[in-house]
Amino acid sequence: MYEHLAQAPDIENLEHQGYVTLALGEPACALIDEIAELTLTFFRQDDEVKSADSIRHLHEGWQPFGGEFSITPDRPDLHESFWVTRRNATRAAATYSSMGRALHAKMVQHLSIMQHLEADITRDIRRHLGLEDVKESAIDGPLDADLQVLYYQPQRQHRDLLQDEHEDGLYMTLTWADSPGLEILGPNGVFHGLSQGRGRVSVLPGEILSLMSGCRIKPMIHRVRRHAEQLERLSINYFAVPDLDRSADIEKWIACPQHGAVSVADRIRHNRSQFLVQ
Ligand SMILES: [Fe+2]
Repeated sequence: MYEHLAQAPDIENLEHQGYVTLALGEPACALIDEIAELTLTFFRQDDEVKSADSIRHLHEGWQPFGGEFSITPDRPDLHESFWVTRRNATRAAATYSSMGRALHAKMVQHLSIMQHLEADITRDIRRHLGLEDVKESAIDGPLDADLQVLYYQPQRQHRDLLQDEHEDGLYMTLTWADSPGLEILGPNGVFHGLSQGRGRVSVLPGEILSLMSGCRIKPMIHRVRRHAEQLERLSINYFAVPDLDRSADIEKWIACPQHGAVSVADRIRHNRSQFLVQ
């Protein structure tokens, strides 16, 4: 139980303050340090070199600047990224350069740690919601998951927001960053910065978790503000969503009168098709 954390999180915060912050144990912190060091070396290369480590049809490896968006393709997110997906990671590994392969291998390790944490969090959410006796569903098994490292160069940009406000449309996001910028929408309707730093991973619920929980847990709306003094900013983001290959439909844990007619599987399919510039 929470073998990768320094202390167990207070899961009630997901319902009452909208997010919860995890304190990673030292081995998981050290792995992030290694990923950050490799990532900075990787992203500082020329685009032509990085493109050799890009497998776009698999959503694996390097994605160039402006390849994703939060709300509209007219306002791309102002970062580059490196992706590892649970689905394609093994297939992708063989094609990378030595640097791409080294980064990929560390990211696969981090993805695995985040998957364990996500399963522990789900168990505690179910306990918090009083669902121990409610039938498990596809969401209680291994989920589909991606890990992305995002690389920003805030000083080179001009917009106030490096990512516009959005919610991730998934089940759960676990996010870490090396410096400030992430802001979340508080219950008073005001955005405020989330404290990040070494060993601190924030759990942000998405729409799918909200639907599963009968809307007791709300999707967390967030954005990334530009801090002009930052030359570089890294974030590492784990995104999880139920695997529709394992189950054609997903029964909600708690029915929600407001969204009773919404199919969880349909929302997953719809949300999955968003956010990428073609
Ligand atoms: Fe996001």
